[in-house]
Amino acid sequence: MKIAIGSDHGGYKLKEVIKQCIQTELGYDVMDVGCHCPDSVDYPDYANEVCEKVVAKEADQGILICGTGIGMSIAANKMKGIRCALVHDMFSAKATREHNNTNVLALGERVIGTGLAQEIVKIWLTTPFSEQERHQKRIDKVTSIEEQHSLQR
Ligand code: RB5
Repeated sequence: MKIAIGSDHGGYKLKEVIKQCIQTELGYDVMDVGCHCPDSVDYPDYANEVCEKVVAKEADQGILICGTGIGMSIAANKMKGIRCALVHDMFSAKATREHNNTNVLALGERVIGTGLAQEIVKIWLTTPFSEQERHQKRIDKVTSIEEQHSLQR
């Protein structure tokens, strides 16, 4: 499993913790697109890098961290093929994989502690999509909105 991860300065410290957790506890490969120090940067640049890797299938799943997770999730969901969930609890981490087949997870470093964040990441990375027809039908409807909208532009 290859996981792409990125953050802005607001998520830098948590990114380092999560990166380590994925490598040591799950044994997955991590591609870190930055940022690589706590200097101020712009979150859309890192959302774009991670999402491009997921869409190109260079990464199986992506993780984005900023101060709140909100900017990252907004930016990620602009890209065709990305389903990003902003998650700060363990129930939603499981549910969004099972129901929404999300391929990018957004977290807010200023919102939750490192212990909860690591549990969320482990659940999100190891829970499969349920494959149930009703969930796939709804995801297909979301994709259809995305396609209709891009044709109108
Ligand atoms: C940076 O100060 C902050 O705005 C950013 O990390 C994020 O929370 C944006 O949504």
